[in-house]
Amino acid sequence: MALPAVDPAGAVFTRPIRHLANGSCPWMIGRRDGGWLLSACLAVGMTGVRVRDVSALEILDSRGRPTLQVAVTFSDGTSGLAGVPSGASTGSGEAVERRDGDPGRYGGLGVLAAAESVQGEIADLLRSADWEDLEQLDDALISLDGTPGKSRLGANAITGVSMACARAFAAGSGRPLWDWLTPHAVTARLPVPHFNVINGGAHAPNLLDFQEFMIAPLGAPSLPEAVRAGAEVYAALRRLLADSGHSTGLGDEGGFAPEVSEPEEVLRLLVVAIEAAGYVAGPDGVAIALDPAANGFREDSGRYRVGDQKLTSDELIERYAGMVARFPVWSIEDGLAEDDWAGWQRLTERLGPAVQLVGDDIFVTNPVTITDAVAEGIGNAALIKVNQIGTVSETLRAMTVCRIAGYAQMISHRSGETTDTFIADLAVGTGCGQIKTGAPARGERVAKYNRLAEIAAATPSLPYGLAKT
Ligand code: PGA
Ligand code: ZN
Repeated sequence: MALPAVDPAGAVFTRPIRHLANGSCPWMIGRRDGGWLLSACLAVGMTGVRVRDVSALEILDSRGRPTLQVAVTFSDGTSGLAGVPSGASTGSGEAVERRDGDPGRYGGLGVLAAAESVQGEIADLLRSADWEDLEQLDDALISLDGTPGKSRLGANAITGVSMACARAFAAGSGRPLWDWLTPHAVTARLPVPHFNVINGGAHAPNLLDFQEFMIAPLGAPSLPEAVRAGAEVYAALRRLLADSGHSTGLGDEGGFAPEVSEPEEVLRLLVVAIEAAGYVAGPDGVAIALDPAANGFREDSGRYRVGDQKLTSDELIERYAGMVARFPVWSIEDGLAEDDWAGWQRLTERLGPAVQLVGDDIFVTNPVTITDAVAEGIGNAALIKVNQIGTVSETLRAMTVCRIAGYAQMISHRSGETTDTFIADLAVGTGCGQIKTGAPARGERVAKYNRLAEIAAATPSLPYGLAKT
């Protein structure tokens, strides 16, 4: 096997050492300083499949922008389909989408070149060999692309192929996708849904600098009851906003986008809505999670703009501490910007013992970046987005790094979505206990929550709730 592949940050991922009788395979991560080796196991699918057909179609995402739908058929007839999501507030280290740049089509956002990547070079590669497992196939895609950010073939092309192949492997195994994705020695579980009910930042044209205000039914007894709580609080919030003269127009992820500039005012409204819907506001009922997405309001001066204030990192940390003290905020994602590692360290020291601190733009689902962040004491959880790193296998590696380090993981949609429900299965199979996939409204968001409901109904023995880290 012509590997190891070298990842963007210079760490080496070996191929699986050998396949074990239980269908898992150990692999190793070499840290770039050579000092830290981790080993872990990934479940593998059936062995030795050949790909017969690979096709890609330019479709629309939930913002009306082009994206890819990829279809794969193996020679035994099993097949997989995938829709590729797309972010708007991206970290600088994310894998790079391939867009046509032709201003005469979709303002330059067309993905015909990425479709050609799939149907040309990638199809040739996939038809040229037998594939033992998804990891081997994903590593070959990474090598074929050859760039650190998957920009040559396009991360959108590679993500779509990887997801479609995962589905085909799962179909061939006869197991549900979530079960096929479950790593060795991991217990699958139904995640706590984090419903993004107030949108700001890059996802809405309102005054709100913070991007996402989510409600998380941590205390719900089951996934269906959690979904019910999310929908009932969302409805109560709509009434509350309307009654208080606010707009009930929606942002990109289906949350409301009122003209409120102070985050504390939003938190107050959320607590009122939670209680109006008949729930307890807090960890025993419905808690609150924030994704300020601080990259979006960091100014060139290094200060953070919140409403009419310009805050230093330390002032913003104290602002968060005040919110945590006054409101049931249990999780804060991207509280500081991706390049503010010193601030992140202080944030983690100050609030890490009490609050989940999730790295999104700062970690970009990159196993090596997360490994470095663990060593530096940055955050205590990672947001997980398949298209941020570009393959399903690398996504699973990032999650394995988190599990070994004791970091929690939250599976995430993107603000530009399709009706693909892969992430629902990924959240269940990896047992991480957390997912965020927008408001309990709009087809592309509820498709994921509805898939979770289907899995819950089909497998009543699955536990619900946060995973222990
Ligand atoms: P994006 O934002 O999908 O627009 O990048 C989501 C997030 O920041 O979590
Ligand atoms: Zn985020």
